[in-house]
Amino acid sequence: MVKAVVAGAAGGIGQPLSLLLKLSPLVDELALYDVHQSQVQGVSVDLSHISSPAKITGYDNTGDSLDGAKAAMKDAGIIVIPAGVPRKPGMTRDDLFKINAGIVKGLIEVAAEVAPKAFILVISNPVNSTVPIAAETLKAKGVFDAKKLFGVTTLDVVRSETFVSEITGIKTSDLNIPVVGGHSGETIVPLFSKATPKVDIPDDKYAALVNRIQYGGDEVVKAKEGKGPGGSATLSMALAGFRFAEKVLKAAKGEKGLVEPSYVYLPGVPGGDVVKEANGGLDFFSVPVELGPNGVEKVTNPLTDLTDKESSLLKECLKKLPKNIEDGVDFVKAPA
Ligand code: NAD
Ligand code: LMR
Repeated sequence: MVKAVVAGAAGGIGQPLSLLLKLSPLVDELALYDVHQSQVQGVSVDLSHISSPAKITGYDNTGDSLDGAKAAMKDAGIIVIPAGVPRKPGMTRDDLFKINAGIVKGLIEVAAEVAPKAFILVISNPVNSTVPIAAETLKAKGVFDAKKLFGVTTLDVVRSETFVSEITGIKTSDLNIPVVGGHSGETIVPLFSKATPKVDIPDDKYAALVNRIQYGGDEVVKAKEGKGPGGSATLSMALAGFRFAEKVLKAAKGEKGLVEPSYVYLPGVPGGDVVKEANGGLDFFSVPVELGPNGVEKVTNPLTDLTDKESSLLKECLKKLPKNIEDGVDFVKAPA
């Protein structure tokens, strides 16, 4: 029996992501949790009429308690977290830290208590910092298993497939493009030299393509003009979140050969030490992850034989990512 939870289920990402999970044969029970009481109950009843097997339950809290969160996450196998505020035009992802850091920490504390063995997929931004927050919170609770904590960076991969396909004509479903580093602006590092099949990006298109992948989120925020729901990517993110969750669940059931980049804690995963050495010592980094029954089976080091252009991209990433990680770790270890 697989129980899946969406925390932030009433939101712009939460609703379509819940729909996709409800349709999945890999999910037996789907618990929807949100602090927005009327919305989450409405979404739950709505989804419960769909004739797929997953049983739907909806939870919010009574007063100031976290009883709804606890009931939703109790004994969950997988918890996906898109809870928190999204960007509006003019904001960076780091501007969300002030509010989302506390939201993610609170949700992880509940998960640690009632579902310590669950796979946890963090979507809430800034991912570069919220995943370190989640890791430190789980460590403090004594239940951290790095193999089961994932920062969801799949949208960067999805965007790369789409934009590279537009240039090369290769079908998106045939493309495999590692995108590594982090999940914001210049911390996002697409590695076209490691793509399969081989992709040929003309020199005069390279810079614009990289910029579009790094700032694809801004393109959506601008187009939505601050008008809800969400404000940033919701539908493409729901697809990306589902794609990653589905791979985690398939691997948990024994399917082999499932690889997808994810932002993980390197010292706690097989192969992570090699990547940490190659990235100048950072604990958190998005890398291609091979998934298995217990989560991360192993990570592969993508930072070998980079082109000059890719080395420059990596250099820029490594200027910004350390501070994002430090902010997340400090939020839990040394609260201001
Ligand atoms: P949204 O405002 O539409 O939805 C967020 C939901 O979270 C709301 O329903 C809200 O009530 C709920 N919520 C707030 N605090 C909560 C708590 N403590 N517990 C449970 N639920 C809570 O926002 P959205 O567009 O769905 O975006 C959600 C987050 O995902 C944002 O931080 C956004 O930046 C991020 N995001 C990440 C990626 C990625 O690639 N990782 C992509 C897009 C968006
Ligand atoms: C994205 O990449 O679309 C998300 O991280 C949302 C955002 O704020 O850009």
